[in-house]
Amino acid sequence: MNQSNLSLLSGCILRKATSADKWSIRLMVFSAKLDPTQLNWQQFWVIECDCNLVACGQLRNFSGAQELGSLVVASTWRGRGLGTLLTQHLINTATQPLYLECLGERLAQFYSRFGFVPISFEDLPQFPKTSGLSTLKSKFRFSQLAKKLLRVPVVFMEHRGNS
Ligand SMILES: CC(C)(COP(=O)(O)OP(=O)(O)OC[C@H]1O[C@@H](n2cnc3c(N)ncnc32)[C@H](O)[C@@H]1OP(=O)(O)O)[C@@H](O)C(=O)NCCC(=O)NCCS
Repeated sequence: MNQSNLSLLSGCILRKATSADKWSIRLMVFSAKLDPTQLNWQQFWVIECDCNLVACGQLRNFSGAQELGSLVVASTWRGRGLGTLLTQHLINTATQPLYLECLGERLAQFYSRFGFVPISFEDLPQFPKTSGLSTLKSKFRFSQLAKKLLRVPVVFMEHRGNS
């Protein structure tokens, strides 16, 4: 799949977030109980339908890597391809090796459609530290702990190219 295959429902636009979207983005991410850290609106892309924000997602920056995160489609808009479109757009926009963490097999299957493959915590690359940016592995370490101690079904995934 590439950019030219991305088509939106009529009345919907995909655009970069603006400062006016800040609270809508937070509400969507909190409501979906996703990671509440690094929610800088500047990193987000959103889908707006009939003037309402209905989906969001972002690329978090780490040393030598990016994380596709905060992907949410408003519940009444799910199952119409918006999550697919936004995911593919974020992949196309990424400029660094791309990773994500998700909960459970169903989501892992969703992401595998885009060329993400599961990777163990141990096999995550340790990119050299860039000033001002933390490493992805240090962030994922918390999830790894929850996985080990609390049996939270976290799946780490690496993007290996479009399937
Ligand atoms: C995952 C999510 C973004 C998909 O958005 P969407 O617009 O419904 O997705 P699309 O219509 O493009 O694709 C549908 C696919 O999404 C996946 N999907 C839909 N709902 C899902 C859910 N609750 N959990 C996991 N996967 C789901 C399925 O693979 C589905 O494929 P299918 O129709 O063949 O079963 C959306 O369900 C959502 O916002 N979920 C809550 C937040 C979340 O878990 N985000 C992911 C964080 S890692």
